[in-house]
Amino acid sequence: METKKRIFSGVQPSGNITLGNYLGAIKNWVELQDDYECLYAIMDMHSITVRQDPKELKKRTLDLLKIYLACGIDPEKNLLFVQSHVPSHAQLAWVLNCYTYMGELSRMTQFKDKSKSHADNINAGLFTYPVLMAADILLYSADLVPVGKDQMQHIEICRDIAGRFNAIYGDVFKIPEGFLPKAGAKVMSLQEPLKKMSKSDPNPKGYISILDDSAVIAKKIKSAVTDSEGVVEFREGDEAKAGINNLMTIYSAVTGKTMDEITKEYAGAGYGVFKSDTADAVVEHIRPIREEYDRLSGDKAYLEGIFRSGAERAEKIASRMVSKVYKKVGFLPF
Ligand code: TYM
Repeated sequence: METKKRIFSGVQPSGNITLGNYLGAIKNWVELQDDYECLYAIMDMHSITVRQDPKELKKRTLDLLKIYLACGIDPEKNLLFVQSHVPSHAQLAWVLNCYTYMGELSRMTQFKDKSKSHADNINAGLFTYPVLMAADILLYSADLVPVGKDQMQHIEICRDIAGRFNAIYGDVFKIPEGFLPKAGAKVMSLQEPLKKMSKSDPNPKGYISILDDSAVIAKKIKSAVTDSEGVVEFREGDEAKAGINNLMTIYSAVTGKTMDEITKEYAGAGYGVFKSDTADAVVEHIRPIREEYDRLSGDKAYLEGIFRSGAERAEKIASRMVSKVYKKVGFLPF
């Protein structure tokens, strides 16, 4: 029997889950779940690299599990768990910290950006965040890591750390590959289309939350920043077209239409009609997610069953890797 290749990925429960998180990552997870053995975690330990309100964090963690399920991740087929429930993540991260250089960590774009946006709290966790992420992936010998473009640099450093460790101790870690979606690998802010859509954006008009109601989604798309040219055409890299490029990307991701098809469809139509159709397409795409999310809201016991069994099964796999690594580096077994 052929064994399936393995996938690991996760989202931080640190804000409103956006259309960017969905199109860049979760939608792809749903599509991959039949062909791979998948572990999808809720990365709460990564979240505290930025100050969180404890009550909010707890609520968001459970909400994110509901979002995974509502988006179509099947808990029978996939292993779903909360990162902090599986101690192996912190254990491997410590070891890997000792095989990661300050220089390479200081080149991480996300560290540089977050140091600017949280200048009052540049903590060591924020700096070593990619090491914890490497541990997340390497613990499970994942073949593939489906993420958005902004996380590719972290996958690269994970590969570097794994390769370095293997060069010293033999074939311990599987070297993982990042995996981007066809459309939506980098969804941009609706208000500042040169910046990525972010769940921590202080301006809610810049992002669409996967839980926004239909009227709000439509309004945000209709007021998205575009240009004055009025031509629905995708021009890669043209900053003046960044707004329309982004809306076309979103429309393409939710309808499956290509850029050429979209351009033909809206030749001579202007932005008003295109925005209105994009709003309808996104609303229709998200509606069932929102409905399923609401339906799950009351079912605490069901959710708890999922994350408890997920943690147990994940720890079983992960602790074997920790033991192997501990042995390799020379820790006395007990
Ligand atoms: P996070 O929580 O910032 O984002 C979760 C996923 O959403 C993708 N994403 C986007 N994709 C397209 N357009 C956007 N505007 C956009 N914004 C976010 C991200 O690329 C990501 O795939 N460090 C990770 C979480 C993590 C992880 C891991 C992921 C921790 N350990 C191990 C994979 C494997 C993060 O902060 O993602």
